[in-house]
Amino acid sequence: MTPVEQVPTVRTDELDGPVVVRFEDLVPGWHEAKCSTEAGFLRWLSPYVGGPPGHLHEHPATGLVGVHSTMGVMGLLSGQRQWGVHRHTTTEIYLILRGHVATVEAGGVSQPMGPMDLLYIPREAPHAVRAVGEEDVLLMYVHDDHERLGESRYYADDDPSVQGPDIHPTVVRWNDLEPWWGAPGAGLAGSFNWSVTWAGGGEGRLNLNPGVAAVGEGCAMGATVIAAANAQEPERWETVRYLQVVSGRVSVEGRPDLGVLGAYDVLIVPPGHSHALRAVGLDDATIVWFHEDDGRPLAH
Ligand SMILES: [Fe+2]
Repeated sequence: MTPVEQVPTVRTDELDGPVVVRFEDLVPGWHEAKCSTEAGFLRWLSPYVGGPPGHLHEHPATGLVGVHSTMGVMGLLSGQRQWGVHRHTTTEIYLILRGHVATVEAGGVSQPMGPMDLLYIPREAPHAVRAVGEEDVLLMYVHDDHERLGESRYYADDDPSVQGPDIHPTVVRWNDLEPWWGAPGAGLAGSFNWSVTWAGGGEGRLNLNPGVAAVGEGCAMGATVIAAANAQEPERWETVRYLQVVSGRVSVEGRPDLGVLGAYDVLIVPPGHSHALRAVGLDDATIVWFHEDDGRPLAH
């Protein structure tokens, strides 16, 4: 097997066109996180897009490196939690894909979260999550910038430095996001789809749920639900997009070579590339998208 260090890497904005990373091709890593092989703290990580050498999620097995972001999924087994709390030098986002958690925050604060709820974690905010209930947890994690290895700092629960007033993450709940039907053709038979944003930009930038979505400093994140038997109109953006299938199945219009994407598969689209997804099969398709920048779409 080729040593991981020798996997050639490519920056996601330098791809020739959209690529697919299949969930089942990723081998979960059990050794990236503190105490993650110990009972009570069991969790694994699979990065889809990693960081350059010397940074978090370096040498990703996919060979894909973000311009200024990393993205992957974390499995947290039932009955487990992340050890202590930790701080990053970047903004981090957790999106709960399966199961339920309670956040672990400074000063004993905890917030409940379920599927499709998002935790927006500003840089330096102490955070962790604990699995709640009997179901294993799967969450998507995203960093909006690269973090040097060793720069995230972990603290035991009783560490005095995380007992007082501090920065807290924000929970943005799926049920609080009003669907937006404004995409081209979104209300027409054949192309029914609606979208929401959990995190978006400020005035003049992408944000479909102003006042409810977290305001990002350098990223946007949302979801699009494509009704069964419908396809989106093509769209082009000025930023890299990571599109993860959460439920249902999709194909990429005009690209049969990319095959059908199912649960937790990711389509990575470099800037400026036109793309449209079609829900295949009999179920609606839910797609979560992350933009490295909170930019505007390019003209169609
Ligand atoms: Fe974190």
